[in-house]
Amino acid sequence: MTSLTILVTGGAGYIGTHTAVALAEAGFRVVLLDNFSNSEFSMVQALRSMVDQEVPFYEADCRNKSDLLRVFNTEKEKGHPISGVIHFAALKAVGESVEKPELYKSNNIGGTECLLEIMKEFGVHSLVFSSSCTVYGEPENIPVDERSPFLPSESTYGYTKQACEKLIENHAEENGEFSSALLRYFNPIGAHPSAIIGESPRGIPNNLIPFLCQAVAKLRGPLTVFGTDYPTKDGSCIRDYLHVMDLAEAHVKAIGYLFEIVKGKGCRAFNLGTGTGVSVLEVIDAFERVTGEKVPYTLGDRREGDVVAIWANAERAKEELKWETKRSLEQGLNDSWNWQQKLSEN
Ligand code: NAD
Ligand code: WQD
Repeated sequence: MTSLTILVTGGAGYIGTHTAVALAEAGFRVVLLDNFSNSEFSMVQALRSMVDQEVPFYEADCRNKSDLLRVFNTEKEKGHPISGVIHFAALKAVGESVEKPELYKSNNIGGTECLLEIMKEFGVHSLVFSSSCTVYGEPENIPVDERSPFLPSESTYGYTKQACEKLIENHAEENGEFSSALLRYFNPIGAHPSAIIGESPRGIPNNLIPFLCQAVAKLRGPLTVFGTDYPTKDGSCIRDYLHVMDLAEAHVKAIGYLFEIVKGKGCRAFNLGTGTGVSVLEVIDAFERVTGEKVPYTLGDRREGDVVAIWANAERAKEELKWETKRSLEQGLNDSWNWQQKLSEN
């Protein structure tokens, strides 16, 4: 049987590479595209070394129609037309998005618009979209479920995720055969347990775990815990940290769900998280326990724009995608640390 071809946009990035491995393991044929605005070709080579199929890669920009035409046409001519798309390609730095709103809108929203247009032209009707729990802002009820309203976003990044979800919903309404899974990730952490692929943030990391790992590796000064006077169990913020390989496997379930279950039935949003809220201080404690390393940290002021506490009600993904997280926080932290040690060696 010929396997179905899945195009992964942003396929050289953190979640894209891990998902490509999971897709290949599940028997899909994987094609990647990326413009390397936040990644490097070495990650494509690394993931190629992990799978037993050739993985075509295109240096291409989602905003560029002729780039996308080249990808869809070439694969079709090779006899492997693209059957579905997983769309990771986006800029994701929250702070930068506030400084460069037009860049974020044109890249994230413009890229999605262009992709939808080409998918329509080629009769590709299944799209898995990378959304974020950031669409909920500071939710009224936690754990937050998918019916929780979108609140005005603190950042342009968050706005682009809300806008893309609406764009995709409109596309589904206008195109009867189209369907999409809008996957709202909570906080992905970790790396592939082999430490062959992982996250390589550029510059000073904004996110907790990459900063923490670099602080432990003495590549940076101590971690600052942003805020210790929040109305939470220990005063620090609470998040839902899920392992990137669990997240990768959710994409495999989601694309299968679009092909087999909902064909042409519009859009469905899914929270992807563990369902458990963990504080920043608890993360530090778990990291020290699992790795045996001391985390250098100081207690600091609140970071502007931070949500106090959010974690997922992920029951819908469990019931409808048959997906739930299998890996622990400790496993995620350990895999992040192994990956950091490998990066430090190079
Ligand atoms: P990443 O930066 O590692 O990967 C994104 C990839 O997309 C990069 O390789 C980048 O070069 C590429 N890219 C960006 N714009 C492009 C364009 N116009 N054309 C082609 N390629 C382009 O980020 P990630 O953490 O893997 O995130 C993947 C997706 O998941 C993003 O859409 C992000 O917004 C979303 N997301 C991430 C998180 C997180 O914490 N990592 C949480 C929620 C949602
Ligand atoms: C986690 C917790 C910080 C750094 C961001 C985006 C969101 C989504 C995931 C893409 C918070 C605290 C952090 C540090 C700290 N991305 N922290 N010291 O803010 O939950 O979400 O990434 O969609 O849209 O906003 O993740 O990793 O930055 O922070 O104390 O040096 O760690 O205050 O409580 P966040 P994060």
